[in-house]
Amino acid sequence: MEHLKIVASAQQLPEHQVTNQELSHIMDTNDDWIFSRTGIHQRHIVTTENTSDLATSVAKQLLDKSGMTADSLDFIIVSTMSPDSLSPSTAAIVQGAIGATSAFAFDLSAACSGFVYGLSVATSLLSTRYRRGLVIGSEVLSKLVDWQDRTTAVLFGDGAAGVLVETTTENIGLLGEQLRTYGNKGDNLLAGQFANKNPFAGEISPVDPYFHQNGREVYNFATREVPEVLQAALEEAEVSADDVDYYLLHQANARIVTSIAKRFGQPTDKFPTNMAQNGNTSAASIGLLLNELVVSGKVHAGQTIAFVGFGGGLTVGAQIWKI
Ligand code: ACO
Repeated sequence: MEHLKIVASAQQLPEHQVTNQELSHIMDTNDDWIFSRTGIHQRHIVTTENTSDLATSVAKQLLDKSGMTADSLDFIIVSTMSPDSLSPSTAAIVQGAIGATSAFAFDLSAACSGFVYGLSVATSLLSTRYRRGLVIGSEVLSKLVDWQDRTTAVLFGDGAAGVLVETTTENIGLLGEQLRTYGNKGDNLLAGQFANKNPFAGEISPVDPYFHQNGREVYNFATREVPEVLQAALEEAEVSADDVDYYLLHQANARIVTSIAKRFGQPTDKFPTNMAQNGNTSAASIGLLLNELVVSGKVHAGQTIAFVGFGGGLTVGAQIWKI
């Protein structure tokens, strides 16, 4: 067991909110369809900020809340599928902006599993010679949305959230985890494709940078694979489903969350949701949920918490923490 402490959590949501009603003015959709299928009522959409702006705000808040200085950080991981650019990485931009001169920084691409994969990498780093770091999920998915496509445009939102983690002598930390990738199913969720237009390229197949997903397939994948991965994480942690205080699942779809709660025979209030306000924020969603629950006092030290991400790749990650 790694002795690792989540010292602080923080979030940054863009101020501008877009309701389902507003979307119905720009595409053929309605609140009833969106809410009944997804549980989403509204989402936050940036007006001026990019992914690194949201992540930098989270990083500054994490330092403020934990009373740490930027130069005490050893690393910064930003999990994102919507970086400002491929180079510099969003994490490097954050590192420069906050002056974390001793920290190395890199982006991690695991779509909606990004927060869980990021925490896993942080745990490994903290078992070596590093002592403190940030894991931030930050997304401006509105850059990747085709605003003419009602099948995807209604699903996603922008936002960022993260945690400051460090080594501790307390008997807490990551109890068990399972990370899985199903690359043979990757075509079911595409975004950010580039066409190679080099002068030597043959026929260029048409690609566009926008989201394309086989929603049904992703839905079936999530309800089939996520329970299996979560069960394996619980077994590794030697924790029963009843012993988990809260299950913080990626917020893609309220029906997926309800179905998983049912599979484990758990009350739905142990599976909190916030997609109604935020939509699907990919790598940011679990951190947003965590921060909300910490601020409200529902999640606190001494509890057992599960983090479960799933999405593009396709990827799944489940972790059981004693916090
Ligand atoms: N408004 C109104 N009608 C719509 C909309 C809309 N926004 N979008 C689609 N429709 C229509 C379709 O055109 C279709 O009409 P038709 O029957 O006349 O052809 C009908 O509604 C049903 O469409 P489906 O796609 O079959 O709807 P479904 O019930 O599967 O719901 C949804 C779609 C909500 C996307 C669901 O499949 C889902 O939630 N999938 C999981 C997505 C997910 O979890 N993604 C997570 C990963 S995201 C990541 O990793 C970044």
